[in-house]
Formats: sequence, structure tokens, C-alpha cells
Amino acid sequence: MMKQFSPPSWFLPDSAATDESLYFNRRALLKAAGLATTSLALPSLSFAQPGDPLASKTNPKFQQLEPTAEKLTTSYNNFYEFSTQKQEVKELCAGVTLPPWQVEITGLAQKPLTLDLDQIKALGLEQRVYRLRCVEAWSMIVPWDGVPLAKLIQLANPTSKAKYVAFVSLEDKKLFPGQRTSYYPWPYAEGLTLPEAMHELSFLAFGCYGKELPIQNGAPLRLVVPWKYGFKSIKSIVRITLTDHQPATLWNQIQPKEYGFYANVNPAIDHPRWSQSSERVLGSWFQRRPTELFNGYPEVAPLYRGLDLKHNF
Ligand code: MTE
Repeated sequence: MMKQFSPPSWFLPDSAATDESLYFNRRALLKAAGLATTSLALPSLSFAQPGDPLASKTNPKFQQLEPTAEKLTTSYNNFYEFSTQKQEVKELCAGVTLPPWQVEITGLAQKPLTLDLDQIKALGLEQRVYRLRCVEAWSMIVPWDGVPLAKLIQLANPTSKAKYVAFVSLEDKKLFPGQRTSYYPWPYAEGLTLPEAMHELSFLAFGCYGKELPIQNGAPLRLVVPWKYGFKSIKSIVRITLTDHQPATLWNQIQPKEYGFYANVNPAIDHPRWSQSSERVLGSWFQRRPTELFNGYPEVAPLYRGLDLKHNF
């Protein structure tokens, strides 16, 4: 016998649903709701949740690597806003709801902007499989879904004085238990030179494995700079600032001798407390591979022509 349908409280009959053409046209929807359409600072109307499917186009140029199992890369996380213990971050993120999110692109820009997530995604989502090498000498391979960082920076139109790009994560002591301790100079901050940020490889990820990012991997959006140690790939970004000076970064402020501003993966430059010549492949305690200069992305070498990499580590 067929079960009788009893609608849940959120059920809307077809007749009450918004016309599909309006639903898919955000501006028209805003207009229909009587809201101004000129401001870019309106909160997103779609509230994508971690794990929701994310439609991105495979970028064939970055598909050569075999990804690490998803259950490993989403349960072994460095996210100090939650915990310094990698294995407990995922559990601490379970049930966390992120606030409505916007990203400010400010500083030395001719067109400073505040965008919601859908507006950045509309620049064109693609999937790229990248290596990620942590400074702690373990590595993994992740299929990220996102947009090239350069596309976003171009929108803001940097002035000729802009030489660096600073990134800042959300600061919210209620959401992030780790920020209730003052040991770290919150919020988490990172930076790149402008040419690094404009490089084709620099990527802003909204998802991984074809789904919206889990919170523990940096939802709703994070940086991915695959030729640098993982700490440069800042999570949960709310502000991007174009500046004329090298910005202060969290790890560099705490331990400048251990965590340089450049942090390019380099087997020849050891961390003061351990060797960087090889790395443990995530998923095995025994399988190691030799560390590659720039993490196996030699195309970035021209960014550092004439720069002493030992000094600028
Ligand atoms: N971003 C923020 N905001 N907070 C952090 O603690 N940890 C960094 C980086 N981004 C971190 C962060 C470090 S040390 C690494 S190795 C990577 O995130 C880890 O990313 P994953 O958890 O997706 O593997």
C-alpha cells in the first residue's frame, strides 16, 4: 500500500513556488523582492552547506594526480581556530553553522569590492587536483573546486602601488574555541606577493571532491597555493587587502626563524627542527616520497628569479 504523503512544515506546493526563470536569475529575484540591484554587498540568497554538491568544470591541465582518499583529507586537519589536535578538528566542526558570508577586497584597488559567495563562484568554478605539502612533512593530493585567485583580484583592479596581497580569516570567538586563547595573534593572517597571487596556480577553493568544503577544510572559502607549505593556504577568508608592504602573517609573527614569508616547498632548506628532504604520504605512516622543489610545480620558478631562496625562505 502506498504511504499517504504528509507534508513537512517547509513544504511548498508547486503553485506557490517561484517561477524557475526567476529562481535562477538572482538579480530578477532581488528586483521582484523590491531590493536594489546595484549593491554588490547584499548577502547571498543561496545558503550552500558544507557537503552540498558543487558543479565545477574539470580543468584538464590539473588532473594528472591520484587524489588521496576523501575520508583522510577531511579528518586530519590543521585548523587552529578549532584545535591544535588534527584528529579532533572534524568532530569539533560537526554541527557548527557558519554565519552569512561576504568577502571584502580592499586596499590599493581602483574598485574595492564586497562580494558574496555566489558572486565569486559566478567567475567560473573549475576543479583542479593539486598536491598539498604541510610544513610538518606530510603530504596529500586533493581535488579542489574553486576559481583562480587572479580573476577575483582583477575585478578589484589593483593600483600600480599594490605589491602584496594580505588575507585574513574570520575572527569569531563564539564560533572558534581556539580564538579564546591569546597564545596566537588572531585572526589567522597570510600573504603573497602580487605576482604570486596572480599566478595561474593560485586558487580560491569553495569545495573539494565536487562538494562544498567541509568546515574543517576551510569553509566557505580558502586559499590553495600548491607550491608553498600548507600554512600559506589560509582557510575561511573574509578579507583580501592589496598593499604596498609585506603583510604580517600569523606563523611568521610567532616564529620568524621557522616560518618565513615565502614558505616555498624546498627539500634543500630544512626546518630548524626537522628535515624537509622527504615527506610522509597521508594514509600511511611508512610510505615516504622525496620532497620536490616548489612541491613539483617548476612553472613558478620565474617568480623567484634573482631571489636568494635560502635567505627568503
Ligand atoms: N587557515 C586557518 N585559518 N587556520 C589554520 O590553522 N592551518 C594551515 C592551513 N590554513 C590553518 C589554515 C595549515 S598549517 C595547513 S597544513 C592547511 O591549512 C591544512 O589544510 P587541510 O586541513 O585542508 O589539510
